[in-house]
Amino acid sequence: MDIAIDLGSDRIRVFVEGKGKVLDEASVITYDVDTREVFAVGDEAYGMIGKTPYGVRAAHPLDSGVIAQSDLVENMVEILLKEVCPVKIVMPRVVTAIPCGLTEVEKRAVVNAVGAIGARRVYLIESPKAAALGCGVDITSPHGVLIADIGSGTADIGVISLGGLSVSKSVKRAGGAMDEELVKFVRKKYNLIIGTNTAEACKKEVGCVTVLDEQKTFRLKGRDAVSGLPRFVDVGCEDIMPAIAEIAQDIVLAVRDVLEQTPPELAGDIYNDGIILTGGLSKLTGLAKTISETTRLKVRVHKYAADCVIMGCGKALRFIEDGKNAPKNGISPLMAAY
Ligand SMILES: Nc1ncnc2c1ncn2[C@@H]1O[C@H](COP(=O)(O)OP(=O)(O)OP(=O)(O)O)[C@@H](O)[C@H]1O
Ligand SMILES: [Mg+2]
Repeated sequence: MDIAIDLGSDRIRVFVEGKGKVLDEASVITYDVDTREVFAVGDEAYGMIGKTPYGVRAAHPLDSGVIAQSDLVENMVEILLKEVCPVKIVMPRVVTAIPCGLTEVEKRAVVNAVGAIGARRVYLIESPKAAALGCGVDITSPHGVLIADIGSGTADIGVISLGGLSVSKSVKRAGGAMDEELVKFVRKKYNLIIGTNTAEACKKEVGCVTVLDEQKTFRLKGRDAVSGLPRFVDVGCEDIMPAIAEIAQDIVLAVRDVLEQTPPELAGDIYNDGIILTGGLSKLTGLAKTISETTRLKVRVHKYAADCVIMGCGKALRFIEDGKNAPKNGISPLMAAY
């Protein structure tokens, strides 16, 4: 039995051959800073962010798709996998998604983390390719497709044709960086200290890149920076727009950059089909519209935007060489095996 893992900065998702998606949890681990003893992982650990006692930390161990603290990532993957697969999958082959443009050392770290679950072999696939597969695109055809997978740690943009990336770009600041900017912004503008989870909830609820007519508000609760007492402010879309605008703009410009470097024949295909957005942050209000206005192309956010990469990794399992259904023409979206 083979499995696919999408080790995201914000969420970790697992696909098991023959079963589909079996796991979708926050990629967070709560641990003792000195002993490295693990207290919780996944959604349970997410709820502990900013609430842990002295000496205990709850953190996202992946930063922009890069593994900084490998032991934490390995523990997190192992514990979460045990929860969904009580019967240990014996030496599975694993397909896992990575951002575009990782260095060899960074790729190795991903392979080691995934390998820690006892994988026999690890196959890597760049997120835009996985996302395209997950969207049902036939990525082995010579027809060009532009996909942007906009998540928490990175926005990965790529033009895909014949199973490979013709042009790609990875922006290292996305949803997670927006949350951090929002924390700083709220402190400066309202003298209110909030946590990143509150910032994320606010971004999901009222975050936007273009001004809206409807006036939704979100109640930000935190600690007053001057008095030190609990306080709240109600904010609307326009109030917090400056905090997220710059990162959103970087992503939009990166999509334009990729288009500018796209070979003309592929650009023609993209002109007809438009751009597909996947990843959780693609749901940010106004982001698709802004990309559409900047590139003058149709932009479509996939219905199951956040799941495209893991579903695509799942589909990529069939490309593992010597797989039962491996394609005959030899075109494969998988990168080197480790
Ligand atoms: N409705 C929404 N509006 C705005 N942002 C959202 C929404 N839903 C999810 N997000 C944001 O999307 C991000 C998570 O997306 P996703 O699950 O694709 O990330 P990931 O795969 O874990 O990260 P990465 O692939 O970058 O390592 C988070 O920053 C989250 O706050
Ligand atoms: Mg992702």
